[in-house]
Amino acid sequence: MSIEQLAETAQAMVAPGKGIIAIDESTTTIAKRFAGVGIENVEENRRAYRELLLTTPKLSDYISGAILYDETIRQSTKAGVPFAKYMAQNGIIPGIKVDKGTHPLAGCPGEVVTEGLDGLRARLEEYYKLGARFAKWRAVINIGDDIPSGTCIEANTHALARYAALCQEQGLVPMVEPEVLMDGDHDIETCYEVTEATLRSLFGALYEHNVLLEGTILKASMVVSGKDCPDQAGVEEVAESTVMCLKSTVPAILPGIVFLSGGQSDRDATAHLDAMNRLGNLPWPLSFSYGRAMQSAALKLWSKDLAGNFAKAQEIVYERAKENGLAALGKWEG
Ligand code: 13P
Repeated sequence: MSIEQLAETAQAMVAPGKGIIAIDESTTTIAKRFAGVGIENVEENRRAYRELLLTTPKLSDYISGAILYDETIRQSTKAGVPFAKYMAQNGIIPGIKVDKGTHPLAGCPGEVVTEGLDGLRARLEEYYKLGARFAKWRAVINIGDDIPSGTCIEANTHALARYAALCQEQGLVPMVEPEVLMDGDHDIETCYEVTEATLRSLFGALYEHNVLLEGTILKASMVVSGKDCPDQAGVEEVAESTVMCLKSTVPAILPGIVFLSGGQSDRDATAHLDAMNRLGNLPWPLSFSYGRAMQSAALKLWSKDLAGNFAKAQEIVYERAKENGLAALGKWEG
Protein backbone atom coordinates (compact mmCIF):
# COMPACT_ATOMS: atom_id res chain seq x y z
CA MET A 1 0.00 0.00 0.00
CA SER A 2 1.40 3.37 -0.98
CA ILE A 3 1.32 6.44 1.21
CA GLU A 4 -0.61 8.16 -1.61
CA GLN A 5 -3.45 5.67 -1.23
CA LEU A 6 -3.51 6.05 2.55
CA ALA A 7 -3.45 9.85 2.20
CA GLU A 8 -6.29 9.73 -0.32
CA THR A 9 -8.46 7.68 2.05
CA ALA A 10 -7.61 9.97 4.98
CA GLN A 11 -8.52 13.05 2.95
CA ALA A 12 -11.80 11.51 1.82
CA MET A 13 -12.67 10.80 5.48
CA VAL A 14 -12.53 14.52 6.25
CA ALA A 15 -13.90 15.85 2.94
CA PRO A 16 -15.48 19.32 3.38
CA GLY A 17 -18.81 19.16 5.22
CA LYS A 18 -18.55 15.43 5.93
CA GLY A 19 -17.80 13.38 9.02
CA ILE A 20 -17.88 9.87 10.40
CA ILE A 21 -20.62 7.98 12.17
CA ALA A 22 -19.23 5.72 14.92
CA ILE A 23 -21.37 2.60 15.20
CA ASP A 24 -18.64 0.36 16.59
CA GLU A 25 -20.14 -0.32 20.00
CA SER A 26 -18.99 -3.69 21.32
CA THR A 27 -21.73 -6.18 22.20
CA THR A 28 -21.45 -5.12 25.84
CA THR A 29 -21.68 -1.41 25.03
CA ILE A 30 -24.63 -1.77 22.65
CA ALA A 31 -26.31 -3.83 25.39
CA LYS A 32 -26.19 -0.72 27.60
CA ARG A 33 -27.55 1.53 24.83
CA PHE A 34 -30.34 -0.96 24.03
CA ALA A 35 -31.16 -1.45 27.73
CA GLY A 36 -31.56 2.32 28.09
CA VAL A 37 -34.48 2.25 25.64
CA GLY A 38 -35.80 -1.26 26.29
CA ILE A 39 -34.53 -3.10 23.19
CA GLU A 40 -33.54 -6.74 23.57
CA ASN A 41 -29.82 -7.27 22.92
CA VAL A 42 -29.98 -10.14 20.41
CA GLU A 43 -28.00 -10.46 17.19
CA GLU A 44 -30.96 -9.75 14.90
CA ASN A 45 -31.73 -6.49 16.70
CA ARG A 46 -28.10 -5.43 16.52
CA ARG A 47 -28.03 -6.26 12.80
CA ALA A 48 -31.33 -4.51 12.08
CA TYR A 49 -30.23 -1.41 13.98
CA ARG A 50 -26.94 -1.19 12.08
CA GLU A 51 -28.87 -1.69 8.84
CA LEU A 52 -31.13 1.20 9.80
CA LEU A 53 -28.12 3.46 10.34
CA LEU A 54 -26.09 2.40 7.31
CA THR A 55 -28.96 2.43 4.80
CA THR A 56 -30.22 5.88 5.76
CA PRO A 57 -31.13 7.42 2.40
CA LYS A 58 -28.56 9.94 1.12
CA LEU A 59 -26.38 9.41 4.21
CA SER A 60 -23.26 10.12 2.13
CA ASP A 61 -24.39 13.74 1.69
CA TYR A 62 -22.83 14.36 5.11
CA ILE A 63 -21.15 11.10 6.11
CA SER A 64 -17.84 9.98 4.61
CA GLY A 65 -17.32 6.81 6.63
CA ALA A 66 -18.64 4.59 9.39
CA ILE A 67 -16.76 2.66 12.05
CA LEU A 68 -18.03 -0.89 12.49
CA TYR A 69 -17.55 -3.53 15.16
CA ASP A 70 -16.16 -7.01 14.41
CA GLU A 71 -19.63 -8.58 14.43
CA THR A 72 -21.07 -5.85 12.20
CA ILE A 73 -18.47 -6.07 9.43
CA ARG A 74 -19.46 -9.75 9.07
CA GLN A 75 -23.20 -8.96 8.83
CA SER A 76 -25.37 -8.10 5.82
CA THR A 77 -28.49 -6.15 4.96
CA LYS A 78 -31.78 -8.03 5.02
CA ALA A 79 -31.41 -8.40 1.26
CA GLY A 80 -28.08 -10.19 1.80
CA VAL A 81 -25.57 -7.49 0.83
CA PRO A 82 -22.58 -7.44 3.23
CA PHE A 83 -22.59 -4.10 5.08
CA ALA A 84 -19.07 -3.18 3.94
CA LYS A 85 -20.03 -3.81 0.30
CA TYR A 86 -23.26 -1.82 0.68
CA MET A 87 -21.27 1.06 2.15
CA ALA A 88 -18.63 1.09 -0.56
CA GLN A 89 -21.40 1.08 -3.21
CA ASN A 90 -23.06 4.03 -1.48
CA GLY A 91 -20.04 6.26 -0.97
CA ILE A 92 -19.34 5.46 2.69
CA ILE A 93 -15.83 4.28 3.61
CA PRO A 94 -15.92 1.19 5.87
CA GLY A 95 -13.91 1.47 9.09
CA ILE A 96 -13.38 -1.01 11.90
CA LYS A 97 -12.69 -0.82 15.62
CA VAL A 98 -9.65 -3.00 16.28
CA ASP A 99 -8.79 -2.46 19.93
CA LYS A 100 -9.96 -4.97 22.52
CA GLY A 101 -11.05 -2.49 25.12
CA THR A 102 -9.53 -1.07 28.27
CA HIS A 103 -8.14 -3.04 31.22
CA PRO A 104 -6.76 -1.86 34.57
CA LEU A 105 -3.14 -0.74 34.21
CA ALA A 106 -1.16 -2.78 36.73
CA GLY A 107 0.65 -0.62 39.25
CA CYS A 108 -1.45 2.44 38.43
CA PRO A 109 -4.67 2.43 40.47
CA GLY A 110 -7.63 4.08 38.75
CA GLU A 111 -5.98 4.00 35.33
CA VAL A 112 -6.50 1.82 32.28
CA VAL A 113 -4.60 0.69 29.22
CA THR A 114 -6.10 -0.46 25.92
CA GLU A 115 -5.29 -4.02 24.84
CA GLY A 116 -5.41 -5.71 21.46
CA LEU A 117 -1.91 -5.64 19.92
CA ASP A 118 -1.34 -9.41 20.02
CA GLY A 119 -2.38 -10.91 16.69
CA LEU A 120 -3.34 -7.50 15.34
CA ARG A 121 -1.42 -7.85 12.07
CA ALA A 122 -3.46 -10.91 11.04
CA ARG A 123 -6.74 -9.29 12.10
CA LEU A 124 -5.96 -6.17 10.05
CA GLU A 125 -5.18 -8.32 7.04
CA GLU A 126 -8.58 -9.97 7.37
CA TYR A 127 -10.44 -6.68 7.92
CA TYR A 128 -8.84 -5.24 4.78
CA LYS A 129 -10.14 -8.25 2.84
CA LEU A 130 -13.58 -7.67 4.36
CA GLY A 131 -13.50 -4.13 2.94
CA ALA A 132 -12.24 -1.95 5.81
CA ARG A 133 -10.06 0.99 4.76
CA PHE A 134 -9.50 2.63 8.14
CA ALA A 135 -9.25 1.34 11.70
CA LYS A 136 -9.88 2.89 15.10
CA TRP A 137 -8.12 2.30 18.42
CA ARG A 138 -9.42 4.07 21.53
CA ALA A 139 -7.18 4.82 24.49
CA VAL A 140 -8.76 6.20 27.64
CA ILE A 141 -7.21 8.73 30.00
CA ASN A 142 -8.97 9.31 33.31
CA ILE A 143 -8.66 12.57 35.23
CA GLY A 144 -8.77 12.33 39.05
CA ASP A 145 -6.70 12.83 42.18
CA ASP A 146 -3.06 12.53 41.05
CA ILE A 147 -4.02 10.98 37.73
CA PRO A 148 -3.27 10.62 34.90
CA SER A 149 0.27 9.46 35.58
CA GLY A 150 3.00 9.82 32.98
CA THR A 151 3.21 6.02 32.99
CA CYS A 152 -0.43 5.69 31.93
CA ILE A 153 -0.14 8.29 29.19
CA GLU A 154 3.01 6.65 27.83
CA ALA A 155 1.65 3.11 27.96
CA ASN A 156 -1.40 4.21 25.99
CA THR A 157 0.35 6.34 23.39
CA HIS A 158 2.94 3.61 22.84
CA ALA A 159 0.12 1.14 22.09
CA LEU A 160 -1.55 3.69 19.79
CA ALA A 161 1.70 4.13 17.86
CA ARG A 162 2.25 0.37 17.49
CA TYR A 163 -1.31 -0.14 16.25
CA ALA A 164 -1.00 2.84 13.85
CA ALA A 165 2.21 1.48 12.31
CA LEU A 166 0.60 -1.94 11.83
CA CYS A 167 -2.47 -0.35 10.20
CA GLN A 168 -0.36 1.50 7.65
CA GLU A 169 1.65 -1.64 6.92
CA GLN A 170 -1.64 -3.41 6.12
CA GLY A 171 -3.09 -0.57 4.03
CA LEU A 172 -5.53 0.86 6.56
CA VAL A 173 -5.63 4.47 7.74
CA PRO A 174 -5.22 4.56 11.52
CA MET A 175 -7.78 6.71 13.35
CA VAL A 176 -5.88 7.27 16.59
CA GLU A 177 -8.16 8.08 19.51
CA PRO A 178 -6.74 9.18 22.84
CA GLU A 179 -9.94 10.02 24.75
CA VAL A 180 -9.57 12.20 27.83
CA LEU A 181 -12.76 11.37 29.73
CA MET A 182 -15.26 14.02 30.81
CA ASP A 183 -15.99 12.15 34.07
CA GLY A 184 -15.08 14.08 37.21
CA ASP A 185 -15.39 17.53 38.76
CA HIS A 186 -12.19 18.97 37.29
CA ASP A 187 -12.21 22.33 35.54
CA ILE A 188 -11.53 23.03 31.86
CA GLU A 189 -7.92 24.12 32.58
CA THR A 190 -7.17 20.66 33.99
CA CYS A 191 -8.69 19.04 30.91
CA TYR A 192 -6.52 21.31 28.76
CA GLU A 193 -3.32 20.31 30.56
CA VAL A 194 -4.08 16.59 30.40
CA THR A 195 -5.11 16.75 26.74
CA GLU A 196 -1.97 18.71 25.87
CA ALA A 197 0.31 16.21 27.64
CA THR A 198 -1.49 13.29 26.01
CA LEU A 199 -1.28 14.70 22.48
CA ARG A 200 2.39 15.64 22.90
CA SER A 201 3.15 12.10 24.01
CA LEU A 202 1.04 10.66 21.18
CA PHE A 203 2.74 12.57 18.37
CA GLY A 204 6.15 11.76 19.89
CA ALA A 205 5.27 8.05 19.89
CA LEU A 206 3.90 8.16 16.32
CA TYR A 207 7.17 9.74 15.22
CA GLU A 208 9.25 7.11 17.05
CA HIS A 209 7.27 4.35 15.31
CA ASN A 210 7.65 5.86 11.81
CA VAL A 211 3.92 6.44 11.39
CA LEU A 212 3.23 8.62 8.35
CA LEU A 213 1.04 11.48 9.50
CA GLU A 214 -0.20 12.13 5.94
CA GLY A 215 -2.06 8.84 6.21
CA THR A 216 -3.37 9.22 9.78
CA ILE A 217 -6.51 10.75 11.30
CA LEU A 218 -6.72 11.98 14.90
CA LYS A 219 -9.92 11.32 16.79
CA ALA A 220 -9.78 13.76 19.68
CA SER A 221 -11.81 14.62 22.72
CA MET A 222 -12.72 18.29 23.15
CA VAL A 223 -11.26 20.39 25.94
CA VAL A 224 -14.27 20.71 28.26
CA SER A 225 -15.12 21.04 31.96
CA GLY A 226 -15.55 17.76 33.86
CA LYS A 227 -19.17 16.59 33.91
CA ASP A 228 -19.50 17.35 37.64
CA CYS A 229 -17.57 20.62 37.61
CA PRO A 230 -19.81 23.31 39.15
CA ASP A 231 -18.40 25.94 36.80
CA GLN A 232 -19.15 24.72 33.26
CA ALA A 233 -17.24 26.41 30.42
CA GLY A 234 -19.46 27.84 27.66
CA VAL A 235 -19.40 27.06 23.95
CA GLU A 236 -16.90 29.78 23.00
CA GLU A 237 -14.46 28.80 25.73
CA VAL A 238 -14.61 25.12 24.76
CA ALA A 239 -14.04 26.00 21.11
CA GLU A 240 -11.13 28.34 21.81
CA SER A 241 -9.43 26.04 24.34
CA THR A 242 -9.78 22.98 22.12
CA VAL A 243 -8.39 24.72 19.05
CA MET A 244 -5.50 26.26 21.01
CA CYS A 245 -4.61 22.89 22.53
CA LEU A 246 -4.71 21.18 19.12
CA LYS A 247 -2.72 23.95 17.42
CA SER A 248 0.02 23.64 20.00
CA THR A 249 0.35 19.85 19.73
CA VAL A 250 -0.85 18.50 16.36
CA PRO A 251 1.38 18.82 13.26
CA ALA A 252 -0.21 20.72 10.38
CA ILE A 253 0.54 17.89 7.95
CA LEU A 254 -2.17 15.71 9.50
CA PRO A 255 -5.07 15.43 6.97
CA GLY A 256 -7.75 16.03 9.59
CA ILE A 257 -9.10 15.80 13.11
CA VAL A 258 -12.48 14.37 14.05
CA PHE A 259 -14.08 14.58 17.49
CA LEU A 260 -15.85 12.04 19.65
CA SER A 261 -18.94 13.24 21.52
CA GLY A 262 -18.00 11.55 24.80
CA GLY A 263 -21.33 12.03 26.56
CA GLN A 264 -22.01 15.62 25.46
CA SER A 265 -25.61 16.39 24.53
CA ASP A 266 -26.41 16.31 20.81
CA ARG A 267 -26.73 20.06 20.82
CA ASP A 268 -23.45 20.73 22.65
CA ALA A 269 -21.52 18.37 20.38
CA THR A 270 -22.80 20.20 17.30
CA ALA A 271 -22.48 23.71 18.78
CA HIS A 272 -18.87 23.10 19.88
CA LEU A 273 -17.83 21.80 16.46
CA ASP A 274 -19.55 24.69 14.73
CA ALA A 275 -17.91 27.27 17.02
CA MET A 276 -14.46 25.80 16.38
CA ASN A 277 -14.90 25.98 12.63
CA ARG A 278 -16.20 29.56 12.87
CA LEU A 279 -12.88 30.54 14.48
CA GLY A 280 -11.32 29.97 11.05
CA ASN A 281 -7.63 29.88 10.16
CA LEU A 282 -7.26 26.19 11.04
CA PRO A 283 -4.38 24.04 9.74
CA TRP A 284 -6.63 20.95 9.31
CA PRO A 285 -10.31 20.20 8.68
CA LEU A 286 -12.14 19.71 12.00
CA SER A 287 -15.06 17.32 11.74
CA PHE A 288 -16.95 14.71 13.75
CA SER A 289 -16.84 11.00 14.48
CA TYR A 290 -19.76 10.89 16.87
CA GLY A 291 -21.38 7.80 18.30
CA ARG A 292 -23.99 8.84 20.83
CA ALA A 293 -24.45 12.40 19.46
CA MET A 294 -25.28 10.90 16.04
CA GLN A 295 -27.47 8.05 17.22
CA SER A 296 -29.30 8.63 20.50
CA ALA A 297 -32.37 10.45 19.15
CA ALA A 298 -32.86 7.91 16.37
CA LEU A 299 -32.37 4.95 18.71
CA LYS A 300 -34.97 6.32 21.10
CA LEU A 301 -37.56 6.70 18.35
CA TRP A 302 -36.79 3.29 16.81
CA SER A 303 -37.18 1.57 20.21
CA LYS A 304 -40.84 2.57 20.35
CA ASP A 305 -41.75 0.54 17.23
CA LEU A 306 -38.93 -1.40 15.59
CA ALA A 307 -40.77 -2.10 12.34
CA GLY A 308 -42.99 0.98 12.18
CA ASN A 309 -40.38 3.62 13.04
CA PHE A 310 -37.52 2.34 10.82
CA ALA A 311 -37.86 5.07 8.17
CA LYS A 312 -38.67 7.83 10.67
CA ALA A 313 -35.57 6.96 12.69
CA GLN A 314 -33.51 7.16 9.48
CA GLU A 315 -34.83 10.69 8.93
CA ILE A 316 -33.44 11.63 12.35
CA VAL A 317 -30.06 10.07 11.50
CA TYR A 318 -30.00 12.13 8.30
CA GLU A 319 -30.93 15.28 10.20
CA ARG A 320 -28.14 14.75 12.77
CA ALA A 321 -25.66 14.05 9.95
CA LYS A 322 -26.73 17.25 8.22
CA GLU A 323 -26.44 19.38 11.37
CA ASN A 324 -22.97 18.03 12.11
CA GLY A 325 -21.93 18.30 8.47
CA LEU A 326 -22.88 21.99 8.55
CA ALA A 327 -21.02 22.40 11.86
CA ALA A 328 -17.93 20.93 10.20
CA LEU A 329 -18.09 23.95 7.88
CA GLY A 330 -18.99 26.45 10.62
CA LYS A 331 -22.38 26.89 8.96
CA TRP A 332 -24.76 25.35 11.50
CA GLU A 333 -27.63 27.66 12.30
CA GLY A 334 -28.65 26.25 15.69
P1 13P B 1 -19.13 8.91 21.34
O1 13P B 1 -19.30 9.99 20.31
O2 13P B 1 -20.45 8.34 21.82
O3 13P B 1 -18.21 9.32 22.45
O4 13P B 1 -18.44 7.68 20.61
C1 13P B 1 -17.43 7.91 19.73
C2 13P B 1 -16.48 6.79 19.76
O5 13P B 1 -16.30 6.11 18.78
C3 13P B 1 -15.74 6.54 20.99
O6 13P B 1 -14.71 5.63 20.74
